[in-house]
Amino acid sequence: MVALVSTVAYLGLEARPVEVQCQLAPGMPRFAVVGLPDKAVGESRERVQAALSAMGLALPPKRITVNLSPADLPKEGSHYDLPIALALLAAMGVTDAEQLGDYVAVGELALDGRIVASPGVLLAALHARSSERGLICPASQGAEAGWASGVPVVAAPDLVSLLNHLKGTAALPAPPPGEVAARRPAPDLRQVKGQETARRALEIAAAGNHNLLMVGPPGSGKSLLASCLPGILPPLSPAEALEVSMVASVAGALEGGRISRERPFRAPHHSASMAALTGGGENRQVN
Ligand SMILES: Nc1ncnc2c1ncn2[C@@H]1O[C@H](COP(=O)(O)OP(=O)(O)OP(=O)(O)O)[C@@H](O)[C@H]1O
Ligand SMILES: [Mg+2]
Repeated sequence: MVALVSTVAYLGLEARPVEVQCQLAPGMPRFAVVGLPDKAVGESRERVQAALSAMGLALPPKRITVNLSPADLPKEGSHYDLPIALALLAAMGVTDAEQLGDYVAVGELALDGRIVASPGVLLAALHARSSERGLICPASQGAEAGWASGVPVVAAPDLVSLLNHLKGTAALPAPPPGEVAARRPAPDLRQVKGQETARRALEIAAAGNHNLLMVGPPGSGKSLLASCLPGILPPLSPAEALEVSMVASVAGALEGGRISRERPFRAPHHSASMAALTGGGENRQVN
């Protein structure tokens, strides 16, 4: 029997569907994960095995094959632990395989069976919404997932309570609603002395949505003026706030699932290379 659990692969700000397939076959006992897993995904075997034994379950003495499909899409990150564990538990008959078809699952497992936070839960929740499914995620990220309104979220602290919830023996509480982050003290145009022309230019650019090029000698206040710009721009619209939060989510920087309505401001050093500004490495888009 092959058990299937849905999860996602993150490609930039996109969540691609990934199906975790688990088969138990007679033969020499082993546990293999295939389908272009990177080191973290390959190591999930150890975490899954440990989390199961923490629940008092041993791996069945069979050939256990887990395939992450599509097999040509590189899989990165630790959020595959939970879908792999669920697919294995479904294949072992511990949980209902059919019921898992209604969910997308993401989360990292600790050796004692806890489900711990992993980056990108907001993207997974938005993906679950578009595919009309629910989301199973770590308890600490329930509020973050809640921002994708309309998605039934199961935010579980550990594997045992997740299985009990799925069985219907002990329902998990609904995750708390996500909060909007409080405004952080930001530079204010008030602290800029003089510079009437530059301030006026800043105001016109903010009001008219224009680009701004500042030219001046070192120390004349260009960086200071630029850092004041978010303060005079209107707060992010809900759609913009969600988009900015998606970036924070995949970077694992969305603390407590709090979404910020403030406009992000970055001040890269002028000597920063293109790769430092836009990102580099081998993380290419697979079409
Ligand atoms: N008009 C101003 N009012 C108040 N403080 C100012 C003003 N202009 C400059 N400063 C202060 O002078 C320091 C240098 O300013 P800033 O770093 O903005 O200069 P810059 O033009 O960006 O320089 P560089 O070209 O070296 O990046 C900062 O501490 C800033 O707060
Ligand atoms: Mg500067």
